Amino acid sequence: MRVEGVRGMRDILPEETPLWQSLEAEIREAFAHWGYREIRVPVVERAELFSRGVGEETEVVDKQMYVFPDRKGLELALRPEATAPVVRAYVEHGLHARGDLAKLYYLGPMFRYEKPQLGRQRQFHQYGVEAIGSPDPALDAEVMDLAWHLMERLELGREGLFLRLNSIGCREDRPAYREALRGYFAAHADALCPECQRRLETNPLRILDCKEEGCRALSRDAPRSADHLCPDCRAHFADVEAHLADLGLAHELDPTLVRGLDYYTRTVFELCSRDLGAQDALLGGGRYNGLVELLGGPPTPAVGFAGGMERLVILLSSRSGAGGSVPDLDLYLVPIGNEAKREGAKVLSALRRAGISADTDYMSRSLRKAMQVAGRSARYAAILGPDELARGQIKLKDLASGEETAVGLAQFTADPRAFIR
Ligand code: HAM
Repeated sequence: MRVEGVRGMRDILPEETPLWQSLEAEIREAFAHWGYREIRVPVVERAELFSRGVGEETEVVDKQMYVFPDRKGLELALRPEATAPVVRAYVEHGLHARGDLAKLYYLGPMFRYEKPQLGRQRQFHQYGVEAIGSPDPALDAEVMDLAWHLMERLELGREGLFLRLNSIGCREDRPAYREALRGYFAAHADALCPECQRRLETNPLRILDCKEEGCRALSRDAPRSADHLCPDCRAHFADVEAHLADLGLAHELDPTLVRGLDYYTRTVFELCSRDLGAQDALLGGGRYNGLVELLGGPPTPAVGFAGGMERLVILLSSRSGAGGSVPDLDLYLVPIGNEAKREGAKVLSALRRAGISADTDYMSRSLRKAMQVAGRSARYAAILGPDELARGQIKLKDLASGEETAVGLAQFTADPRAFIR
């Protein structure tokens, strides 16, 4: 019986992994250059971490989270995002006690029960940063600069990309804004979807994230968070914009941008691509000055972002020339006959230990077929047959130039690097 994979959870096949690996390497290097260090948090957390941290009323927690009891009945969740887990770890390990800014980054799978489509999956992979410990608006701008820099490194350039920015104010600003939204939407309640009619009572801000056309149309003229900022939040926002200007980062103010997670305060942003269709957000983030305290730590301001790896892969693999066939191996050994095969196993083992990537044929291929495999997969072929064995030699063929040389088997095994460039 064939057992299929789970809808929305893709295999990343060997043809694709080189692109993933080079992306991951670029991302790690960029994050390290900006002063971030990697943190690895579990894939499974207590479900309450997200219901409290991300918010009970959000789509992510309410509709998309994979929740299950463990064998003792503890309610667990597959992480739908990593900000709450990173903050949990920050509080749990007393990282705040060090009194410095904690700059942390992560890469890894996240899980959301969404309707799968291009760029949207149920298991997807995020790269992200969290800078925990400073309220400085320059840090908001630095985080956005890092997001831009990453896209430049990946040669996604600036054309087709745009930065959407908004401020949703602080906790103190929220009640007045919530009331303004409630008043506005209540006057149009008939046009809201049933879900949003309920949100009208519980959390009218979430109506602004609703994907239903009727609700979206109403949201366009809804009261704007930027008009409900206290003087401190207004000043913070002005500073963020000034720092962005200093860094030469263009942005579009988007008063409808509120982001779908409850922890945000002040700055929210998304970096989007005009080439991605409906799922256009390459990455999103913002400030979350209340989350550390909400999860049991001292009041601690923080800012960060996360992006979806799959969306980068879509953009990069649509580019011409992506996934070109560079040989994976340094050398492919072609033994002829049983004796050569046994001798060849020793040669291979020595080569690999010397740091040379090498492989051989285990499919009893003919010489011609084995040479074809070598041509596809390696830079050199090494041919070992009865004649070579009798002379204590091995024949090396440079597969790019076609040049062949016979070299002493003992010297080759002792110092393969002298023969393979
Ligand atoms: P988010 O906007 O929910 O934010 O997700 C960030 C990014 O993850 C999105 O912009 C998108 O690229 C990718 N993404 C989200 N859902 C999916 C999916 N189902 N399939 C493929 N890609 C997806 C957060 O998760 C916040 N934790 C970001 C953050 C960090 N805020 C502050 N710090």
